[in-house]
Amino acid sequence: MTQRIDLLILNAAQLVTCMGDDCPRRRGAMDELHIVEDGAVAVSDGLIVDVGPSARLRAAYRAGQEIDASGRAVIPGLVDPHTHVVFGGDRADEFELRIRGASYMEIMAAGGGIRSTVARTRAATEAELIAAARRRLDEMLACGTTTVEIKSGYGLDTATELKMLRVIEELDRIHPCTLIPTFLGAHTLPPEYAEDGAGYVDLVIEEMIPAVAAWYAASRFAAGGRPFFIDAFCEEHAFDVAQSRRILAAGKAAGMTPKLHADQFNALGGVEMAVGLGAVSVDHLEVSGTAEIALLAQSDTLAVPLPAANFNLGECRFAPARELVDAGAALALATDLNPGSAPCFSMALVMAIACRYQRLLPGEALLAATINAAHAVNMAATVGSIEAGKQADLLILKASDYRHAAYFFGGNPVELVIKAGSVIHADRGLKRNS
Ligand code: NIG
Ligand code: FE
Repeated sequence: MTQRIDLLILNAAQLVTCMGDDCPRRRGAMDELHIVEDGAVAVSDGLIVDVGPSARLRAAYRAGQEIDASGRAVIPGLVDPHTHVVFGGDRADEFELRIRGASYMEIMAAGGGIRSTVARTRAATEAELIAAARRRLDEMLACGTTTVEIKSGYGLDTATELKMLRVIEELDRIHPCTLIPTFLGAHTLPPEYAEDGAGYVDLVIEEMIPAVAAWYAASRFAAGGRPFFIDAFCEEHAFDVAQSRRILAAGKAAGMTPKLHADQFNALGGVEMAVGLGAVSVDHLEVSGTAEIALLAQSDTLAVPLPAANFNLGECRFAPARELVDAGAALALATDLNPGSAPCFSMALVMAIACRYQRLLPGEALLAATINAAHAVNMAATVGSIEAGKQADLLILKASDYRHAAYFFGGNPVELVIKAGSVIHADRGLKRNS
């Protein structure tokens, strides 16, 4: 008896399942991809129903649509667990200023950087923010990213933070990508609080956190069982450890799960604080040392390097990803897409940088961009691997070997994007006459 299903993908040279235990991969398990050669995937109602050798699945199922993946690797849809996709304007001027010699921190200290995007985001309508972010998500999806965490943090007043969260909610409704919202009210001090950090922290805790918690409770995210995170930028010219702790703890008390931007330029002690609070991840980690590596290795908090920010800023001190994996930390990768430090759409490019400058193996980079990235946004029960019961988010690569995702760079390694069981993007190359 053959079972009727919607979609059958057959003959994959490598079906890279990334399956395994329910917890994030660590150490040696970071390079166990669980590849099925000549593999197949059966999909119905947007979910994966079976995974295995083509011969078995071909005999077991009758599908409305079949896709021949011969000569191709099939991998899970990529998960980008740290982005700032919603923003007004751009910062091409700062891109040029940095080439001329100004540093990211100098520009920020002079009132540019995040604050210049705050001004443009406050001035933008919701429709403008949606239209611009939608195009960015299209680009990310074409590069294989099917799940995206998006932070607020360019409002820095209650009304604009709520506006950004509503924009993320609308994008989740209209865009095929699965979106995860994060409240980043503590991104930097807005100009009106430039001399009053304590006052701004009070505003975040007393006014913004209750307001965004109420937004979430009534949102499609809560209704769909999607998580909600709170994040802070623990850094000079942003928030110190005590301020970051107060904000994350208040968010946690209001039902949000903490994350932290830590150790990007200065190691202030944010990692220890975040691990102590049970943060799901600490992100950046460029200047983390042996103490932070040991803390993360012994914790359930994921370490999330953002090497596209190094690449973009020309900062040669990368997060110690190799050392983190070897010490036993759970590691994920993200683009950090934003108009300042990381104007990067592509998780494949992030993997390419991590392999070359942080000495991750291609398989480790892939797990860091799929199942471990899903853990970094508490979505691993739904996405991040090719396993029965999970959402059918799958990529067919242009090559037969998954390592090409990180090996060739600068192009797009993805030929076909399947999101929740539907083919939503295809790159079959140019039409030729002969
Ligand atoms: O993760 N470091 C702080 N926040 C962002 C940068 C945002 C921006 O420059 O606009 C980051 O790099
Ligand atoms: Fe960031």
